[in-house]
Amino acid sequence: MGIVVDLNGKREPQPSLEALTRLVAADLKAVNELIVRRMHSPVALIPQLAGHIVAAGGKRLRPVLTLAASRLCGYTGTRHIALAACVEFIHTATLLHDDVVDRSELRRGLASANAVWGNKTSVLVGDFLFARSFELMVEDGSLEVLAILSRASSVIAEGEVAQLVTANDTETGETAYMDVIKAKTAQLFAAACQIGAIVADRPAVEKEALESYGMNLGIAFQLIDDVLDYSAKQAKLGKTVGDDFREGKITLPVILAFRRGSEAERAFWRRTLEDLDQKETDFDKAVGLMGRYQSLEDTIERARHYGAIARDALGIFADGAEKDALIELIDFSIHRAY
Ligand code: IPE
Ligand code: IPE
Ligand code: MG
Ligand code: MG
Repeated sequence: MGIVVDLNGKREPQPSLEALTRLVAADLKAVNELIVRRMHSPVALIPQLAGHIVAAGGKRLRPVLTLAASRLCGYTGTRHIALAACVEFIHTATLLHDDVVDRSELRRGLASANAVWGNKTSVLVGDFLFARSFELMVEDGSLEVLAILSRASSVIAEGEVAQLVTANDTETGETAYMDVIKAKTAQLFAAACQIGAIVADRPAVEKEALESYGMNLGIAFQLIDDVLDYSAKQAKLGKTVGDDFREGKITLPVILAFRRGSEAERAFWRRTLEDLDQKETDFDKAVGLMGRYQSLEDTIERARHYGAIARDALGIFADGAEKDALIELIDFSIHRAY
């Protein structure tokens, strides 16, 4: 844990990724090397573009989850390395596609691939990375792993398409929103974790526990991502704050402010998010309305709720460094600034 000094001069431990990344450092190094090796192609533009987004960093959360879950399950082999790389390939492919769809210009603190190379190249290199992830799964040879990761891939795509349908529709409710974030984000967290129990050949209860941990952590993670889109410091986040508002994405902070607002305020949300008729000052006004109705705080409160479920899911595993680090990851996901 890092230490932060709060306004009253009190030193508060701040949840961080340090313990978790330290725990899997050697494996993660192997994963990063494998990623660089396997994004290679004789078509130079592919490693060029993929190298740009991979080298930009990113938290590597999903592969770290696979590595840590494998350790938690007592796995001592090497299959988890390629599978963790595979999970990061899937994630990277979805980011390339997502930034095209969301017209995002900043990713991991750098110009997004679509901003540098254009939409066509981004989509196609995203396809390449998806396909490469399937090669890695086939090399692993487990049909159970293949089933989980191919299912996760189709569910992510379903989530992104379902989100298109709710975009610019202020009538969207919390249930439809939750369905979208479970699909587009949480499913891959769940799969990344579950793989740990599969490679270690653990019983169904442990696979289910890790799936539940990953699913609920992923939900909390996306809820906070949607808060950060209205509240983050852009330089820290490495993505453009306000992208969701600009595109008319209906996230929980909006849903709560819309439902709790007056008729005049709802007219504001309809103009800005449905008609996409936005003035300079509208983003600040939106943030102001979210403040009035506590919609960011309450979204964080929902994230805490799912975080608590994730924590309880780990209850069946033996206490130890792995479990502690996975619990700290829940707190990090809720308190994060990036
Ligand atoms: C971004 O995920 C996409 C979401 C699900 C919100 P991350 O925040 O894990 O992205 P990187 O990999 O660290 O850049
Ligand atoms: C992330 O949703 C979903 C996937 C990448 C599949 P967002 O659109 O909120 O993610 P960011 O904010 O662009 O990272
Ligand atoms: Mg996006
Ligand atoms: Mg986002």
